[in-house]
Amino acid sequence: MPRRQRLSSQDRFIDWFQSVAPYIHAFRGKTFVIAFGGEVVADGRFFDLTCDLNLLAALGVKLVLVHGARPQIEARLKERRRRSRFHNGLRVTDDTALLAAKEASGRLRVEIEALLSMGLPNSPMAGADIRVASGNFVTAKPIGVMNGVDFMHTGEVRKVDAYAVQRRLDDNELVLLSPLGYSPTGEVFNLALEDVAASTAAALKAEKLIFMMDTTGVTGRRGELLRELTVNQALALIARAGQPDTDVRFYLPRAVQACQQGVKRAHLISGHIDDGLLLELFTRKGVGTMLTPDPIETLRLARLEDIGGILQLIEPLEADGTLVKRNRSLLEREIGRFIVLEHDRIIVACAALYPFADEAAGELACLTVHPDFRNQGAGERLLTEIERRAHRMKLKRLFVLTTRAEHWFVERGFAEAGITALPRRKRALYNYQRRSVVLLKRV
Ligand code: ARG
Repeated sequence: MPRRQRLSSQDRFIDWFQSVAPYIHAFRGKTFVIAFGGEVVADGRFFDLTCDLNLLAALGVKLVLVHGARPQIEARLKERRRRSRFHNGLRVTDDTALLAAKEASGRLRVEIEALLSMGLPNSPMAGADIRVASGNFVTAKPIGVMNGVDFMHTGEVRKVDAYAVQRRLDDNELVLLSPLGYSPTGEVFNLALEDVAASTAAALKAEKLIFMMDTTGVTGRRGELLRELTVNQALALIARAGQPDTDVRFYLPRAVQACQQGVKRAHLISGHIDDGLLLELFTRKGVGTMLTPDPIETLRLARLEDIGGILQLIEPLEADGTLVKRNRSLLEREIGRFIVLEHDRIIVACAALYPFADEAAGELACLTVHPDFRNQGAGERLLTEIERRAHRMKLKRLFVLTTRAEHWFVERGFAEAGITALPRRKRALYNYQRRSVVLLKRV
């Protein structure tokens, strides 16, 4: 539908705002556990994060924050001229270090609560009304002696009181957790941030567990950002030796654990990108790595409900003449001939196979990939699937009519053929004005 005359920045705003609606629906009332290192507070970045959290709260997202305290603990130990001891990335917490951890967490908590209480007019926090709850939700046990190293007051999570946390969330409070836990005998244990966050997310069966990190996300062999990972892919990656000594090494296994225990999605994103949290949550691509229990992309037969998605995909191409405009009611009747590639509940590519069984031929039609998903193998996947289906239908030849994509098909085994190569019924319909090239492939 043509839009009324409007400034383009307004158009962009509206387009953007509308694009967010599905996420608002999906996130309302859901629980997100968000973990960030003490650096975020030390560097003054928590102020910006507060504004993003405020927006999430306003949209009805239930928030659990887990803060780290490493740089603050370091600073305190330094003041006391004491050195930190780490083993396998875990602090060995002696009496002095425990005192430092308690002091650091106490102060961090107050500072975080203060920032969350802002409500300045003319700021993103205007009208904010966030109540912060914290308490003894995490029960811990000592790590004890591992590989001959006595970890002393370093502990691990034994249990998270999910019921108590949930009650606070149901009361519209934000729950703030420190990396400390208590034992039934009244001892305090110093815990790893990622342990607290993952155990809490799992106990709450949270929708999301989000780690704000120092790096951009999980990276592949060539250092490229891996935007999506399944639990199995992540496990393979962890098993492969040579993980660099970054946040990912500690956070990814916990993210996997959380997803195995019922968390729907875990995100590992950079804490250094401005508003990275909102970009990750409200765009399809995100800015970091998203981990899911199962693949979020599936190739399947189209159903009637997919018509809207298919139309959105092909309409721009019909408008510029790349595709012939399809009769809409025909499309409904022929939906069974279509296959679609669904990515995170959105149709991102489609193709159709029209058999001419009497001549053992089939037409590959309407092969379309969403612009954001081009050059990532979606076209190949659809083509391979169509060929498989053609083969199963005992078709010998697959043909395609194209005006723009000749090279793409030729590179994939098609060869130019004359109009006479078309099945008779198709030849009768050939549109001489369009001057499509006929390409043929044996299957
Ligand atoms: N915004 C969506 C979500 O929060 C998708 C994020 C995709 N992120 C990624 N790193 N691939 O679920």
